[in-house]
Amino acid sequence: MSLKKIVVLFSGEGKNLHNIIDKLHGTVCEVSCAITNKADAPGLQGLPIKGEVLEHTKFSSREEYDKELVKLIKSYEPDLVVLAGFMRILTPVFTKNIKSINLHPSLLPKYKGGNAIEESYKSGDKECGISVHWVSEELDGGEVIEQQSFLRAENETIESFYKKIKELEYELLPKTISKILYEL
Ligand code: GAR
Repeated sequence: MSLKKIVVLFSGEGKNLHNIIDKLHGTVCEVSCAITNKADAPGLQGLPIKGEVLEHTKFSSREEYDKELVKLIKSYEPDLVVLAGFMRILTPVFTKNIKSINLHPSLLPKYKGGNAIEESYKSGDKECGISVHWVSEELDGGEVIEQQSFLRAENETIESFYKKIKELEYELLPKTISKILYEL
């Protein structure tokens, strides 16, 4: 039986992308392609799979960009698309055409948007964590699939807080992808 295929979207460091490739590529699934909207994304370095750059700055509207993105994604015929640090607001052109999940560094519905780690840290909440959810038209608002949390330490610094979030992400995202693909 051939492996299920995923496409991963990212914008920056791509640590989650590389972690997904290390843990799943060639065994659980084929990571057919990684697509970024930033030509200088550090995550493109040392990529052992196909990488594509589709810069949003080259398009006149979000819809025009999403149309091209959908076309590019569909050319790989993935079973699932994974947003791992893809820092874009998506239009219905994308959400109505692509089955995708997103990793978010807070316990949704708390702290939606691009500054979730900082907001979560500053909140003083005792229990913090991460979410993986289906992507819908509402920013960070789709149905939650999995969450994982940790308890803030007495003297938690932003650095140790950030590290805890990252460790949880590297465990939870590959696990959730495997589970979804198994159930497809
Ligand atoms: C991750 O922490 C992810 O949860 C976050 O971006 C980071 C990407 O890191 N996503 C969001 O904030 C989405 N709103 P990476 O590029 O090193 O994987």
